[in-house]
Amino acid sequence: MKKLLIAACLISASAVCGQNIRIQTSETELILRVGESGRLYQPHLGKKLSNESDLDLLPQGREAYLTHGLEDYYLPGLRLTHNDGNPSLLLEYVSHEVRAIEGGATETIVRLKDPEYPVEVALVYTAYAAENVIKSRAEIIHGEKKPVTLHNYASSVLHFDAAKYYLTEFSGDWAHEVNMSETRLDFGKKTLDSKLGSRANMFCSPMFVLSLDSPRQERSGEVVLGTLGWTGNFSFTFEVDHTGGLRIISGINPEASEYTIARGERFTTPELIFTYSAEGVGRASRNIHSWARRHTLKNGLGDRSTLLNNWEATYFDFDEDKLAGIMDDAVTLGVDMFLLDDGWFGNKYPRSSDTQGLGDWDETASKLPGGIGKLVETATGKGVRFGLWIEPEMVNPKSELYEKHLDWVIRLPNREEYYFRNQLVLDLSNPEVQDYVFGIVDRLMTENPGIAYFKWDCNSPITNIYSTYLADRQSHLYIDFVHGLYNVLERVKARYPDLPMMLCSGGGGRTDYKALEYFTEFWPSDNTDPLERIFIQWGYSHFFPSKAMCAHVTSWNKNTSVKFRTDVAMMCKLGFDIMIHELSEAELQFCKDAVANFDRLKPVILDGDQYRLVSPYDGQHTAIMYTAGTDKAVVFAYDMNPRYGEMLRPVKLEGLDAQKMYRIEEINMMPGAHPSVRMNGRTVSGEWLMTRGLELFSTSRARSVVVELTAQ
Ligand code: DGJ
Repeated sequence: MKKLLIAACLISASAVCGQNIRIQTSETELILRVGESGRLYQPHLGKKLSNESDLDLLPQGREAYLTHGLEDYYLPGLRLTHNDGNPSLLLEYVSHEVRAIEGGATETIVRLKDPEYPVEVALVYTAYAAENVIKSRAEIIHGEKKPVTLHNYASSVLHFDAAKYYLTEFSGDWAHEVNMSETRLDFGKKTLDSKLGSRANMFCSPMFVLSLDSPRQERSGEVVLGTLGWTGNFSFTFEVDHTGGLRIISGINPEASEYTIARGERFTTPELIFTYSAEGVGRASRNIHSWARRHTLKNGLGDRSTLLNNWEATYFDFDEDKLAGIMDDAVTLGVDMFLLDDGWFGNKYPRSSDTQGLGDWDETASKLPGGIGKLVETATGKGVRFGLWIEPEMVNPKSELYEKHLDWVIRLPNREEYYFRNQLVLDLSNPEVQDYVFGIVDRLMTENPGIAYFKWDCNSPITNIYSTYLADRQSHLYIDFVHGLYNVLERVKARYPDLPMMLCSGGGGRTDYKALEYFTEFWPSDNTDPLERIFIQWGYSHFFPSKAMCAHVTSWNKNTSVKFRTDVAMMCKLGFDIMIHELSEAELQFCKDAVANFDRLKPVILDGDQYRLVSPYDGQHTAIMYTAGTDKAVVFAYDMNPRYGEMLRPVKLEGLDAQKMYRIEEINMMPGAHPSVRMNGRTVSGEWLMTRGLELFSTSRARSVVVELTAQ
């Protein structure tokens, strides 16, 4: 019988032997092919091939989802141990199906199976035609009598054949996130990964740019942008083999995470999201931006609120009167919302510093006698919305929660505790803890339906890794923690679908697209020095649209003008975190005008196409522009720390219509200031602006200009 079954599989495979499975977007495609062996190969990934007969010329390529234990000698996508101890896996094609799904996307499922063992793998590809984005994941299931152990379980294996490979990574630390650096890949492996658990992206974000043949360029060249939708430990391994072929293995970081699955249990990997561009990295970023707004970001096409946050203005030192004063400031500025940050909760251990109170989500009675209810009422009475900071996955050892529920805390029972920011992580693998965390949001919302926004923070990585709940399945903790988090976020989203939320993790410690299905935006960094933010926002812009990134005007680097700080923040979702009584009359007026300009230009800045014109990494000047169609554009240009006597070049714009005439108007000027853009007030052709450009730079330090272009 077994022999018969194998024969049947082979027949079905040989019936389709040589058949191409084409996963296409409007401009790109991934082609998979069933080989004579019945196994699945990847003959092509790149530009869409329009001539069907050319497909015969394609080589077979490398095996699409490599396994361990056969004839491949490099890192596999999937390695498991069968219930009889056999460590090998062979995957043969069984069938595939293609269907249209929501949002104009196409889903292709390719089913593979081991002829000797009842192990099945489904490779699932979702292609977004208009945005040229493909998502890829694997689903693993088995029918063996006893559990199977997964050691490596990639979301995707992608192959490339180019003369040279260049990899750009985005790494750093607290307050200097996503520094971009490019390395040439030669024989061997380079891995980008994280093992931090909760604040998973503190040192490295789950994203990469691969440039083929030549280093990464903004407007030309073949590039692939990839990012993993997983709010936990991730891993991308780039391995060049002895033939010069490159494989990229992406997925959950398998380090310390062997996962055992029972018969019939399905293991679904997170999704690799990638785009290919033959027109440089600028185009690839725009692909991902529009995909994110249309298909992933919570309320991606909706509006965003401007806000005034009290964190840097007060830290933990506030009371009802002080907060009411800041709400008045929000009204004066003309922003939509007041956001109350850390420090509002805890009674036995009031949260007067970051050493205590985390986990006890009752308002501190001595500080806020009227509770959150009174604050919501005060804000509403003044005509601003009310937002609230929470950090519900964490606990200070000095808290009532820790005293009551030690078993809910991730901590090693027989060792001294090690703290990161004086706190520990709750064990979200435990359903009781998931209920508790969901309950924090649910109770706050039920008692105060006027809360219009949450800032959800996460300041600690997982330390002292041990779960009382998981008992003998400790190696599941990193993964089950993330699933527990998704369970909570899913429930929050289901009950409060229109509630905007900011994803924060001590700055940009969590920045992935699965989390962003539940959050409208994220906090890229605690570093709000505008000269630093220019680089941080530039780095993130490779993967995230401006709409997803919060940027606040603060007092970091008071050597820069309020205008400079505001112009930098206005390139993303604008907010403030500043004592406005410290501003001069002119500065305050400038800020109010900037808020009004931002409100008017949100469709361009937040929903338009972004063009990175001049890189801050290339010198002392930088410029970015946004276009909404070809009728409206906004250009932001900055001088950082120019050298004396530097030669200045005009900035060539992009994304305009060469045939149209554009009126040039400098905006965001200090009251009484004269325009500094030479062509201000003139009407110039799109052709001129894109071929000769605009003179925007100067040799002044920390100077900025913002220019609005309107087609006439
Ligand atoms: C870290 C965040 O990044 C800050 O913005 C602030 O919310 C603090 N946590 C509060 O503890």
